[in-house]
Amino acid sequence: MSSLKIKNLHVSAGSKEILRGVDLELHEGETLALLGPNGHGKSTLLAAIMGNPAFTVTEGSVFLDDVDVLSLSVDERSKAGLFLAMQNPAEIPGVNSADFLKMAMNARRETPMKLFEFYGKLQKAYKEMNIPFEMSNRNLNEGFSGGEKKKNEILQLKLLNPTFAMLDEIDSGLDVDAIQVVASAIREEQEKGLGFLVISHYARLYELINPTRAAVMVNGRIAVAGGPEIIGRIDKNGYEWIKTELGIEIEKPVEEGPMNQVSIGACATRVGLEGK
Ligand SMILES: Nc1ncnc2c1ncn2[C@@H]1O[C@H](COP(=O)(O)OP(=O)(O)O)[C@@H](O)[C@H]1O
Ligand SMILES: [Mg+2]
Repeated sequence: MSSLKIKNLHVSAGSKEILRGVDLELHEGETLALLGPNGHGKSTLLAAIMGNPAFTVTEGSVFLDDVDVLSLSVDERSKAGLFLAMQNPAEIPGVNSADFLKMAMNARRETPMKLFEFYGKLQKAYKEMNIPFEMSNRNLNEGFSGGEKKKNEILQLKLLNPTFAMLDEIDSGLDVDAIQVVASAIREEQEKGLGFLVISHYARLYELINPTRAAVMVNGRIAVAGGPEIIGRIDKNGYEWIKTELGIEIEKPVEEGPMNQVSIGACATRVGLEGK
């Protein structure tokens, strides 16, 4: 059985240390819910595992079975079986969605797929994700709505067949119907034995995909880890108990990171309004 082992991971962006010793283990067939207040390093953890160059690992290790993930390039990490659905998927002008998917799928094979086979798989995946097939002709994520970008990430997951999938707030921007579509795609992959690391603030998604474990990230470390009952507790009572019961002071993040900024159109408006 495959496992992803994160040990004492320290990660910085510039001179700022964001992750301060993360220990986490994920096994194939398991779904781990990762919760925590905003700005405490959840997205950074996923980005660092995937090899985002904005972050520097200063200490610790990440192993996928006996493979030293940190020694691999981003595409090697992807080929080794890791997948990241980003909190704010980037728009890639000039890259056609179908071409991108074909290249990504072929990069995982010895010989390229026959066009007929590729289009068969593509059509099936678009249908299952309830995305109009015409969208395969559009540039990757360009002008896609928030929900369309999120569904498009799961479409990629279905076509790329990773061993471990990390989903960063996959439910943000999704309407009720789209959450059902995404959750059922996740369940299908769970049945195939995929391991999931899922970041969400909402019990609703978790209720649909039944995580086997939960962990809470606070101040760049895992403050608590345990069973899925932690999710209900946070949903009901928030994070105050982390302080009262565990004595961990929840630091206020200094600023919102660029990864948060991309999607906070609505929040920025709210802050703007409140500021007046
Ligand atoms: N590229 C970056 N450069 C500098 N600081 C960053 C960068 N990305 C994130 N941060 C900071 O790291 C902290 C954690 O951010 P993030 O991992 O996005 O948190 P979360 O996903 O838990 O909301 C925040 O204080 C954020 O401002
Ligand atoms: Mg985040």
